[in-house]
Amino acid sequence: MSPLYTFDDLLSRELLDAGHGKPARLAVIGHPVAHSSSPGMHQPALDALGIDARYIKVDVPPGHVAEAFSRMKALGFIGCNVTVPHKFEALAACDHIHPEARSLGAVNTIRFESDGLHGFNTDGPGFVRAISDDFELPLSAFNVLIAGAGGGAGQAIATQCALQGVPSLVLVNRTLEKLGPLAERLRALGPVTVVTVLSFDDPELKASCERCDLVVNTTSVGLKRGDGSPLPDGCLRSGLCVYDTIYRPAVTPLLAAANLAGSRTSNGLSLLLHQGVLAFQHWFPQTDPLPFMRAALLHSV
Ligand code: ATR
Repeated sequence: MSPLYTFDDLLSRELLDAGHGKPARLAVIGHPVAHSSSPGMHQPALDALGIDARYIKVDVPPGHVAEAFSRMKALGFIGCNVTVPHKFEALAACDHIHPEARSLGAVNTIRFESDGLHGFNTDGPGFVRAISDDFELPLSAFNVLIAGAGGGAGQAIATQCALQGVPSLVLVNRTLEKLGPLAERLRALGPVTVVTVLSFDDPELKASCERCDLVVNTTSVGLKRGDGSPLPDGCLRSGLCVYDTIYRPAVTPLLAAANLAGSRTSNGLSLLLHQGVLAFQHWFPQTDPLPFMRAALLHSV
């Protein structure tokens, strides 16, 4: 497990680098962030590609994201990743927001440049790559149902689906009120996509699943021991593609039920991998970190 640094450690190079051969020049910030798998995937790629940099974890309290960025920039960092709950605060702190981050309303990757902070979002594009890698079809070919569309991850994936122009998108959430404004925004963003909203207890849920080709779980249901599946088994069938954004455990109750029903399944490891590859390429264009990151993740998770 790589060491955990604090906001105060960002005050000096000595604090960050004492006892280490390579200088810290990349980081993931979050709160909490101790659990992050990002160092375990970025560091092996940096090492394999001969880049003289360490990738560290920094716990930054809410309200301090902009200051954390200026400290990192002053220390000569190349960039950083941003995780929960800082992706919105990060967007507000950027000088240049790239189009995908603007559409998704969140930033998960920063590049420090002489003209300021550049903010990107690789979660949405990473999801596009994960789906085409795992199910061998472009995301735009799927009629999609998102379980948990009102959460942070769910909204980002729903937005990416609308940007890709999926034919239909069913947004499902426990708290239905969260879906109204999102659905409006998505209809404006992707006019070719037919957007509908449902709660988990809507009698239409099963019929909606039957019309879908891809079901994505973005709820936190399945993370904890003893959790069930967020969707009733009657929603699953042979040939359906089921993607769970959870990757620990690797087989959630949803994926176990989907396997039993003969669905094709995949978990969030591919999303973690591809968002990481795309972030790395924002810092080091022309590199191909994918094989090193893939191998590291398969070993560590
Ligand atoms: P974040 O917003 O950071 O992605 P979150 O607040 O934990 O994370 O929400 C993740 C999603 O899991 C939400 O869609 C949440 O539903 P609500 O919007 O109704 O809160 C969903 N979720 C969490 N626990 C759930 C449960 N027991 N059943 C159904 N959905 C659940």
